[in-house]
Amino acid sequence: MNNDIERVLYSEADIAAAAQRIGAQLAQDYAGKTPILLSVLKGAILWTVDVMRAMDEYAEIEFIDVSSYHGGVESAGTITLRTDLTTDVKGRDIIILEDIVDTGRTLKYMVELLEQRGAASIKVASLLDKKEGRVVDIDVDYIGFDVPNEFVVGYGLDYKDLYRNLPYVGILKPAVYTAEDSATLNGQD
Ligand code: XMP
Ligand code: MG
Repeated sequence: MNNDIERVLYSEADIAAAAQRIGAQLAQDYAGKTPILLSVLKGAILWTVDVMRAMDEYAEIEFIDVSSYHGGVESAGTITLRTDLTTDVKGRDIIILEDIVDTGRTLKYMVELLEQRGAASIKVASLLDKKEGRVVDIDVDYIGFDVPNEFVVGYGLDYKDLYRNLPYVGILKPAVYTAEDSATLNGQD
């Protein structure tokens, strides 16, 4: 698996430091509030466990699975709710944990859903922020790293559902991609 990686962007140590930094910041910002840490499946699972362990404050953990179907080179942006969270968010403080925010469509969908349900506050802590990819106007509150406009894998992020278990984030060798995919690399969830 390692041999498929052309370049490591963020090492295991880089990521651990980012999780510590953001976990400590969240503990400070949410002191006495008991927020819900809402982890976005599947990509944010590693980020979630590392951030939550670094957050010394009462918090609940929930999961949501939203899939974005991107058609062609330009992302189509249809979002489907695959797995809903199991808790009533009315009046609750929500921290969405994401692996990457790219176009921002997935995040916007989730924020609107939580707003409709009456969440008291909604913030986002994302391992990666790909600002160049942004199509909708939405910001990330807690950012691990600002990532360049490249397709990345590892530490939860996948290509064809593989590479999530790499402990670091990197760029795949071009030879790994199928010809059709290299034209449309966008929006694996
Ligand atoms: P947006 O912000 O475009 O993000 O709604 C939708 C989902 O696309 C995935 N994504 C990536 N996945 N490497 C990946 O493995 C990437 O470089 C990448 N960029 C976007 C991600 O799952 C996000 O939730
Ligand atoms: Mg995702």
